[in-house]
Amino acid sequence: MSIDFYWRLPTHGCHASVRRGSYDRGDWSPLAPGNQAPGLTADGEDDGYRYIDHLAEIAKAAEVSGFIGGLIPSFPNTDDPWVISPLLARETKSFRFMIAFQPGFLNPVQAARLSASLQRATGGRTVYNIITGGGGPSQLWWGDSFSHDDRYGRTTEFLDVLKGVWKDQDFSYDGRFYKVEHGGLPPLLGREEIPEIWFSGSSDAALQSAAKHADYYLSWLEPFDQLTDKFARVKERTAALGGEQKCAVRVDLVARATEEEAWRDIRIGFENVSDETRARWRGQPTDSVGAARQAALKPTEAKRYEELIVAPNLWGGFNLLRGGPALGIVGSYEQCAAKLDELIARGTDAFILAGTPHLEEAYRVGEEVLPLLGRKAETLLQAAE
Ligand SMILES: Cc1cc2nc3c(=O)[nH]c(=O)nc-3n(C[C@H](O)[C@H](O)[C@H](O)COP(=O)(O)O)c2cc1C
Repeated sequence: MSIDFYWRLPTHGCHASVRRGSYDRGDWSPLAPGNQAPGLTADGEDDGYRYIDHLAEIAKAAEVSGFIGGLIPSFPNTDDPWVISPLLARETKSFRFMIAFQPGFLNPVQAARLSASLQRATGGRTVYNIITGGGGPSQLWWGDSFSHDDRYGRTTEFLDVLKGVWKDQDFSYDGRFYKVEHGGLPPLLGREEIPEIWFSGSSDAALQSAAKHADYYLSWLEPFDQLTDKFARVKERTAALGGEQKCAVRVDLVARATEEEAWRDIRIGFENVSDETRARWRGQPTDSVGAARQAALKPTEAKRYEELIVAPNLWGGFNLLRGGPALGIVGSYEQCAAKLDELIARGTDAFILAGTPHLEEAYRVGEEVLPLLGRKAETLLQAAE
């Protein structure tokens, strides 16, 4: 089976360097010398360049560098993936758009029609990242006060209905959250493929919902034994329902020509983290099991970057350099490829990779790391025979 690689599209701005965490690209940060894509001239006038133009550069770089598509995250501080995706579709040829969204915030029938239209317009390039929300203040920011497990109950029903109206011309449903009578997409839309479902969440409720509906169960990187165990649990649950679960990992890389260079960038990045950033990244209250698993890896009072090395070439301080999960891969191109190979050997079927800055690192990882992967090399050799 071939391994699909996605790149991450930074919908909330992008750091110009992993070494300088406070310095952003685009109009998410103030105009400053060297800030690419700020959307302003030196005099502070609108220069007509939009952040979507910068995202398009990244999508095109990833597309030509071996990535099949890009994850478009959705947080209170990002642009909206449903809007970003069709705009980027016009800029690329085959690049797929993995739209992160919380099902509870859309009506499932509307979501089915919206997605089918997008599939029709883009030649089937839509992929879902189903996220169910981390609770706490950010959930209330969205106006959603449902409990953790109710949110997952709603997600499951949402996907029941979305798939139901897509496949069935006369679909009725009587659930706790949704009721549909004689629903069904018009044939022209219904003949489109339902987008692949990538499903994020680490709780028991998440695993249960994923087992029913996910094509790929998606996790942030965790220590490898812990991750392997989680994958085994979701595979077991899916098998109990008669299905087969594929698993995927979303992870940041700092890949350099030598290991020394990679750790040097991490050291400088770590030393440049401000106290304010440190306090911010300690995080908000959340009911997310996945976030709690990451928090267990989080730096609290580390004085040196070496204290955050969790295993060879695995560093647990990425959340200090940018928001998000803590654990990522650091090393030479060969070492990074070996880590990805190990994850593949442990049951990973696909990846979402990321690096900072996203534009240049898409080329670098695509050109320097992906070709070194064992399975890929094997495939290339077979193709050459
Ligand atoms: C790879 C990955 C990507 C995620 N992306 C987002 C996102 O874009 N927006 C968001 O609000 N939550 C995101 N999440 C959070 C989860 O979807 C989920 O809301 C959270 O983990 C709570 O569920 P849990 O308690 O089952 O872990 C992501 C999680 C993972 C593993």
